[in-house]
Amino acid sequence: MSQAQITAQHGYTTGNIRFVRSYAKINLTLDVLGKRADGYHELATIMQIVDLYDTICLTATENPSVRILCSRPELANDDNLAVRAAQAVLQRLSLPRGVLIELHKNIPVAAGLGGGSSNAAAILLALRQWWQLPLSPEDLLAIAASLGSDVPFFLTGGLALCEGRGERITPLSPSWPSAMRWLLLLKPSIGVSTATVFRNLLANDYTDGSFSRTVRTALEAKHSLEPEHLHNSLERGVLERYPDVAQAREHMLQAGASTVRLSGSGPTLFATFSSLDDATTTQQRLHAQGYEVFLTRAIAPNGENIHFF
Ligand code: C5P
Repeated sequence: MSQAQITAQHGYTTGNIRFVRSYAKINLTLDVLGKRADGYHELATIMQIVDLYDTICLTATENPSVRILCSRPELANDDNLAVRAAQAVLQRLSLPRGVLIELHKNIPVAAGLGGGSSNAAAILLALRQWWQLPLSPEDLLAIAASLGSDVPFFLTGGLALCEGRGERITPLSPSWPSAMRWLLLLKPSIGVSTATVFRNLLANDYTDGSFSRTVRTALEAKHSLEPEHLHNSLERGVLERYPDVAQAREHMLQAGASTVRLSGSGPTLFATFSSLDDATTTQQRLHAQGYEVFLTRAIAPNGENIHFF
């Protein structure tokens, strides 16, 4: 590490190896405004990076191909967004080299925490910086959006309002209420298909974007957030369709959480705490019930530093 070059993406480079972290997110709000002609939904969502991350080790190879090894072998295939991100870069610039991706997963998969999207964005940023690639921010954004709706957010990270399909990013200055300093993320053991969750929206689930607007304004004014403003348009459908998620939510409340929300299309639920003691006690109770629960917090990676709220 002594010879390693510390880089802006919280990774380091030694010779032909580059190491990066790839963080998860939660959705503080998720307003679904309506269905679009292209089948996607128009969103206004406030996302925040949290201190839960996968690690990615990239090794440059002379063979112009992308290979992946993963701590979850079922993810080591060409459909993985990490592979598709690297392939998109190699193809776009016709680069005469390739990359081996070693992906160590800590972020639960298909969980509403953006793990796959985060991996893809981390690889786009890492390859551009490492190989000094002629990719403008617009190029990177276009590649990111072609990979998935959440990928553009992870190019910016931190706290941001994401609109459109998710690709119109307005970074918000780092700000996080102290009442929400600690976060418990509970991942029910079921998987949820994002497409199915969006397909099951009812007319009443749509909003005019006011929850995201209100929360944005409160965050910018450094006001506390009212729990009822942390609205997720997808939550009703997920709780109704997946009883395991509804039960997990009840168990979180019984274990001591007061505000529990769905992240993204789920099934991960997050609860907010001001006190580490309360968060830890609740986590232990939920662990004792067999739940997978992560204790984490909002962070703002900034160059070599990471700002904890
Ligand atoms: O873009 P991504 O592949 O992550 O989206 C997964 C699915 O979620 C889409 O196929 C679509 O059904 C749904 N989706 C949507 N509107 C969005 C984002 C995702 O309907 N803004």
